[in-house]
Amino acid sequence: MSVTRSAVTGVGSYLPENIVTNDDLSKFVDTTDEWIVERTGIRQRHKAADDQPTSDLAVQAALRALEGGRAHGGGHRPHRRGHHDPRHDLPVGGLHRPAQAGPPVCNAFDIQAVCSGFVYALSVADGFVARGLARCALVIGAEEMTRLMDWTDRSTCVLFGDGAGAVVLEPVEGQGTPADRGVLGFALRCDGNKTDLLYVDGGPASTGTVGHLRMAGNQVFRHAVVNIAEAVTAACEAANIQISDVDWFVPHQANQRIIKGVGDRLGLDEDKVILTVADHANTSAASIPLALDTAVKDGRIKPGDLVLMEAMGGGLTWGAVALRM
Ligand code: UT7
Repeated sequence: MSVTRSAVTGVGSYLPENIVTNDDLSKFVDTTDEWIVERTGIRQRHKAADDQPTSDLAVQAALRALEGGRAHGGGHRPHRRGHHDPRHDLPVGGLHRPAQAGPPVCNAFDIQAVCSGFVYALSVADGFVARGLARCALVIGAEEMTRLMDWTDRSTCVLFGDGAGAVVLEPVEGQGTPADRGVLGFALRCDGNKTDLLYVDGGPASTGTVGHLRMAGNQVFRHAVVNIAEAVTAACEAANIQISDVDWFVPHQANQRIIKGVGDRLGLDEDKVILTVADHANTSAASIPLALDTAVKDGRIKPGDLVLMEAMGGGLTWGAVALRM
């Protein structure tokens, strides 16, 4: 049976120039490089310049994804994204960017699911492309998490960084089997009873300020390992694949110990796991496309490979997507 799938035809990413090492942080907050590396795997993070809005990161990543794909600026380019843009609450970030990234588009909007934003946005874009409602979608994860940090709180400020990643999705015809190219299955989850484990303590209707990110780290950690594994298993079932079929695991890069814990639960071969957390830290919705782009560019992920992505973040939200490149 012939089916339309949405396939990744371009991948791109962008990191701000400024690098902040663990030793840089230890000069003004009570932490050490040893603690951060041992507990998280993080060695450095990128930080946007004071006058560099999230939209700049998003545009750079989008242009690189479009250059790498078959999409060369056709007239119909729906645009969906997951991100934080601390510059304005309105208009939504997604509406700034298409004009900078190319010709006018059909529609553009933001998707806010915090660190799970890319997985959620990919499933939304898949809905448009695979149903024939869009000929091309650009999914961008762009974040300036460093603007939400309380730089006196060592339990959070060492964990996050800035960056952006993007993929181009276009329709391809398949046979309705796991051998098809494109998005094969996904599982999305949310638990609104756990909002207080990871949130920002500001906003227009509360303090009238931007606020700072607050997190009960070890509770989020425990939730992540157990529940991500369940969502990955559900996404594999939806895609009609076994975990052993997976060529590359591209997880959200929050903490190397979480990634290892999930991998161990699933029985994943460590050599199949793409890790960028050491260099990027946690870039929230940008972390998966940043990791994907890293592994595509260095030649590990090739056309035809089966890729499994997963993420978990504020909400709490979490989810997983299986796709063939
Ligand atoms: O992407 C969204 C999802 N977010 C996450 O996935 C993050 C999930 N959580 C984590 O990654 C980990 O829980 C953390 C990295 C945040 C913390 O690691 P942990 O092993 O869970 O440590 P902990 O919170 O249990 O704290 C252990 C100790 C505490 O000291 P005491 O009370 O034992 O004396 C903390 O005060 O480590 C201390 N600590 C630090 N020490 C040095 C916490 N942060 C730091 C720090 N440097 N930066």
